[in-house]
Amino acid sequence: MFNTISNQASKLINLTRRNKQLSKTKLITITSGKGGVGKSTFTGNIAYLLSSRGFKVAVIDADIGLANMQVLFDIKPKFTLFDYIEGKITIEEALLQTSYKNLFLVAGKSGYQYANHSNSFVFARIVEDVINLNEFDIVLIDTGAGLNEYVKEFLAISNNILAITTTDPSALTDLYALMKMLSKDKEELMLCFNHTRNHQIGDTISNSLINLAKKNRLNDNFMVKYIGNVSTSANISTTGRLRKLFSHEFKNDDSTRQLQAIIDTLLKNIK
Ligand SMILES: Nc1ncnc2c1ncn2[C@@H]1O[C@H](COP(=O)(O)OP(=O)(O)O)[C@@H](O)[C@H]1O
Ligand SMILES: [Mg+2]
Repeated sequence: MFNTISNQASKLINLTRRNKQLSKTKLITITSGKGGVGKSTFTGNIAYLLSSRGFKVAVIDADIGLANMQVLFDIKPKFTLFDYIEGKITIEEALLQTSYKNLFLVAGKSGYQYANHSNSFVFARIVEDVINLNEFDIVLIDTGAGLNEYVKEFLAISNNILAITTTDPSALTDLYALMKMLSKDKEELMLCFNHTRNHQIGDTISNSLINLAKKNRLNDNFMVKYIGNVSTSANISTTGRLRKLFSHEFKNDDSTRQLQAIIDTLLKNIK
């Protein structure tokens, strides 16, 4: 998977691993093969619900295709991830306080020219630096869609990876490609189904994917763990457009309850 990783990069991965053991901060990376499946919606709302449970949470918007966490948190970012990468600001300045208690955002920027830095692992370093502050309980990364080198950087340094998918065949095909890649050097992938009303459907499809992985002899040590589903809800799309979080506005909606159940399982699972 990461055969292009330079010496410098593997040093960073080892360092991140060591610091993760020293720091109280847990890192969760949210990804998907396909775009538009609900990654940012899950990231923003999981982050908010965790912060409302008393955890101090930082979200890093690492989507350079469509960086929209600032929209969900209704922030006009003074600084972005890239100001930090380019050495213009400190890590403390990069961490923007949202209007929600205990919840901070490192904002992204759409259309950034990744090629400028490719293969140098400079982006993943920001994760390392946030962990090193030892100030946050949980850091969530929202990655872009697809399996480009930029997304791979963040996956390489993460031990808790949560993939969001729908039951759509093209989303499942992209998810399987992700599983194939991750199975080479990761132990586990957590899986959530969005736009899925029935918990059982997610479970059945997860089992089919696991069976396919067995049949195709993906690494035996790699586990896929289904951790829950969220239904399609008009409140989710409406609040998204209004720069609000559905789990904050509609605390008793089915979709909020479903997400709370996902968080219960997530918290039991993360390393
Ligand atoms: N369960 C859902 N019900 C209704 N709309 C949803 C749901 N999940 C996501 N959406 C909407 O779908 C669109 C894409 O979601 P988003 O989280 O931006 O996807 P991604 O980050 O994977 O590209 C957004 O407009 C969002 O409000
Ligand atoms: Mg997104």
